[in-house]
Amino acid sequence: MSPVSVFPEVSVAPASDREDAPGPAAGDAPRALSPAAETARPAHSTPAAARVLSGSWVEVDVSAIRANIRAVKAFVGPKVAILAVVKTDAYGHGLLAAARTACEEGCMALAVGRFEEGLALRENGIECPILLIGPPPVHGFAHLIRARITPIISSFEHAAEIACEAESRGRPVAVHVKVDTGMGRLGFSWREFPDAALALAATPGLVVEGICSHFSCAERPALPFTRKQIVRFRRALKEARSAGLSPSIVHTTNSGGVLFYPEAHFNAVRPGLLLYGLRPGRTPIPAGLSLRPALSLKARLALVKRVPKGTHLSYGATFRTLRNSVVGVIPAGYADGFPRRLSNRGYVLAGGRRCPIAGRICMDQSIVDLTDVPGARAGDEVVILGRQGREEITVFELSQDLSMTPHEVTTLIPARVPRIYRSPDALAL
Ligand SMILES: Cc1ncc(COP(=O)(O)O)c(C=O)c1O
Repeated sequence: MSPVSVFPEVSVAPASDREDAPGPAAGDAPRALSPAAETARPAHSTPAAARVLSGSWVEVDVSAIRANIRAVKAFVGPKVAILAVVKTDAYGHGLLAAARTACEEGCMALAVGRFEEGLALRENGIECPILLIGPPPVHGFAHLIRARITPIISSFEHAAEIACEAESRGRPVAVHVKVDTGMGRLGFSWREFPDAALALAATPGLVVEGICSHFSCAERPALPFTRKQIVRFRRALKEARSAGLSPSIVHTTNSGGVLFYPEAHFNAVRPGLLLYGLRPGRTPIPAGLSLRPALSLKARLALVKRVPKGTHLSYGATFRTLRNSVVGVIPAGYADGFPRRLSNRGYVLAGGRRCPIAGRICMDQSIVDLTDVPGARAGDEVVILGRQGREEITVFELSQDLSMTPHEVTTLIPARVPRIYRSPDALAL
């Protein structure tokens, strides 16, 4: 059986659909493209294939996402459900591919950050429960309910609007209630309990199906502040139950919480990073959980040339060669998610080696020193993020180097960079 694309309108080249297969050679048809790249394209625009050939691309290993979901499930145990966080285009991995994989793997629900993401899932035939973990659109509950997206409510105004909607529809509306235990963002303050719970229990048409909170520092193990958040949440949960609410889904933990606060798993967890094979902070992932990064950012050398010692390279003339050198132009820059702050200090992988970035990273181009890569030529693949041979540039490495969160590194890669899905088990999608 030959592999098929994640997206049925795009075919897959079977021979190269292996994890270790080389990227698309100049002239190859790409295997599959993200909905952003493919379905949102107006009829007259450049085909995605041509765009892949002229610039950088993201490779998403769907089988890694699948394996990571299974690994997280095994880690949390059979009594804990997974609410798979697929917001912001699944952290740059592609909303639909991640969502379909999560549904297939039996995740209880998909967590989106904006109404529009939930709507996109519904419009693409995703039927599994969707939870809006971001702020609900102001006076927009009717839209959410119509699209069968479950809101998380944070205020009495939210509750009142839901009650109106329930009345006008003639049936109750299920919601989750957020308790702000110290994040200070969304949610009823834990200080408002038990009054908030009593008021919600008395609100007609409102069914509290879930109750949740969010931790601000869960990537740091054994932190007194997180423990305090857990204590506050437990108290609010008890008070909610005493007030007559009976939420069946109780969830507080993002990836950090999943790893380091098992006492706060309750009966559902809300990981994002872990599903994409990424670690949330400096503390290593516990030995019992093995993850695979799912995303790589790649390009092909557009030009390779020799330059004499003393040659200035790129904007600002901040780099001058100290020897006769070989340099390559990469058709990727900061507008492709290759942060400018890596100028003169970051690396890319070429010929299986770490090669220094020479000079400033430009908007859509950059220059790499290839002097130590024998035989480098135009068309060779370079890896900005990901693995090549024995070398790897990880999201964690870049996030540490740039004082960013791992989330920032992958979500910085804009939609204009085509996503290519390579995975033997794209078959199952
Ligand atoms: C409310 C909420 N829950 C869960 C997550 C998932 O976080 P992570 O990717 O660190 O697992 C996020 C992400 O920002 C979030 O905002």
